[in-house]
Amino acid sequence: MARHMSTQLLLLLVYGALCAAHPTTPPGKPHPLSVCIDAKHHKEKPGPEDNLHGQCSPWKKNSCCTSNTSQEAHKDVSYLYSFNWNHCGEMTPSCKRHFIQDTCLYECSPNLGPWIRQVNQSWRKERFLDVPLCKEDCQRWWEDCRTSFTCKSNWHKGWNWTSGYNQCPIGAACHPFHFYFPTPAALCEEIWSHSYKVSNYSRGSGRCIQMWFDPAQGNPNEEVARLYAQAMSGAGHPGAWPFLLSLALALLWLLS
Ligand SMILES: *[C@@H]1O[C@H](CO)[C@@H](O)[C@H](O)[C@H]1NC(C)=O
Ligand SMILES: *[C@@H]1O[C@H](CO)[C@@H](O)[C@H](O)[C@H]1NC(C)=O
Ligand SMILES: *[C@@H]1O[C@H](CO)[C@@H](O)[C@H](O)[C@H]1NC(C)=O
Ligand SMILES: *[C@@H]1O[C@H](CO)[C@@H](O)[C@H](O)[C@H]1NC(C)=O
Repeated sequence: MARHMSTQLLLLLVYGALCAAHPTTPPGKPHPLSVCIDAKHHKEKPGPEDNLHGQCSPWKKNSCCTSNTSQEAHKDVSYLYSFNWNHCGEMTPSCKRHFIQDTCLYECSPNLGPWIRQVNQSWRKERFLDVPLCKEDCQRWWEDCRTSFTCKSNWHKGWNWTSGYNQCPIGAACHPFHFYFPTPAALCEEIWSHSYKVSNYSRGSGRCIQMWFDPAQGNPNEEVARLYAQAMSGAGHPGAWPFLLSLALALLWLLS
């Protein structure tokens, strides 16, 4: 009887130790630290892309976008989404470069796994929610768009698409950006339905996602994703729970 019990105990402990040793990824799920969302133009898995164009080139080493997508990201009314930046007259180049960078981050970054959520949209099965954008990247975007015009604060919904690209709907008047986006946070958070949340952290802190970075120094967002993935998985080590449970059960057995 005692021998039988100790065998069970041993099995439990081995099971617990195995669970604790492989805590990170649930079976069947891609690894959250280098992953692409399931959306319109994303690759299935990230990987090297030698020919990424222009502002998307920082993601060459590990990318969710193809070379084609990176080129299209720099065009007005591109094949990607037929989105017209110039819906209230020409957007200034200094403003537009932020929208191009935002498109590159969205299409190319493999480091946004911790912020992926399922959605029920015709053009994608997953989206990003509340990506903590470094405050300077948002501030600069807002400042550089000061002299451009728009007619809406949420650019995901409510456009008139009858002509094949987005036009301002009837009743939505063109105003300077600041009319629809009074603060940097209003711009970065409202425009894409809370894909971003403005972080209180600064570029270089390792605690916020940088839209802009110098690839010569590596991709700073890798570390940020790792940090948030850990934080989101709970303060403790979730994989340790089966182990702790096994210990508790073993203790109960010993006491009984
Ligand atoms: C990207 O691919 C699409 C679809 O195949 C094509 O229409 C478009 O011209 C390509 N763009 C570039 C820049 O090659
Ligand atoms: C998605 O939409 C379909 C059809 O409208 C619905 O049946 C389904 O329950 C929705 N799923 C989620 C997760 O909202
Ligand atoms: C949509 O745009 C077309 C012209 O491009 C216009 O004729 C139509 O009235 C607009 N409809 C709405 C609801 O804004
Ligand atoms: C954000 O950072 C500033 C300056 O570092 C600090 O004064 C402020 O309390 C912080 N706010 C939050 C919400 O953490």
